[in-house]
Amino acid sequence: MSGPDPRLGVVVVAAGSGERLAARHPKALVLLAGRPLLAHALAGLAAAGLPPPVVVHTPGQGEEFARAAGDLAIAGLVPGGATRTASVAAGIAALADDVEVVAIHDAARPLTPPEVIGAAVAAVTGAPDVLAAAPGVPVADTLKRTLAGEVLGTVDRTGLVGVQTPQVFPRIVIDRVLDPTRPVEDATDDLALVERLRDGGELAGRIVVVPGSVWARKVTYPSDLALLEVLGQHSAPDAAGVGGGT
Ligand code: C5P
Repeated sequence: MSGPDPRLGVVVVAAGSGERLAARHPKALVLLAGRPLLAHALAGLAAAGLPPPVVVHTPGQGEEFARAAGDLAIAGLVPGGATRTASVAAGIAALADDVEVVAIHDAARPLTPPEVIGAAVAAVTGAPDVLAAAPGVPVADTLKRTLAGEVLGTVDRTGLVGVQTPQVFPRIVIDRVLDPTRPVEDATDDLALVERLRDGGELAGRIVVVPGSVWARKVTYPSDLALLEVLGQHSAPDAAGVGGGT
């Protein structure tokens, strides 16, 4: 993508139940340092200079989510679906028609540094052949494939990264992969949706990874919250992402 700054639309998916967190509230409403995860995520996006996002909330809990957003600007609230992909589609459907680039961010990544957010957006707005971009961090541990507690082998970790959000797409690309007239298989991230069409020859272009950060860690288990509580007391150093060692 090139020329004048394209109009950016932002979707925050926050409709997950957070079952693995075993909290009494939906995950996005769980507190980190006294503030809902959703509010942290919204503040991070605003600090990166992104426009107010559409927030996809747990169905039936719009008021609670509006309260959690507090004074932070949002472009709208829409109920989510049973899967992450359905929630993403609901959020994108609520974006203004003239949006040209879409950033999709997990509410469950409350401390994502603004630099990481900015780098993912710039990767799409700065290059005409980029179909999608996301932050990633190299896998640090040695990876084993196992079955029932037994090691079958070691996975070569060359080039392996864990991907984070925001994941960013030209609008034309994300609309195509979520085309409501044909079945869309669920995916645990949005890049995977684009990979399928690229690998099938329907889309041509690059899917890129920009440096992510440990601060962009997703809250899944109670231990993630504990870790982020500690990380939140420190400022993130320069993004340590792909290419940052093996
Ligand atoms: O479940 P997981 O932690 O992978 O979810 C990642 C993000 O997707 C979270 O911010 C969660 O709220 C969101 N999500 C959603 N709708 C779903 C499932 C997950 O908005 N049905």
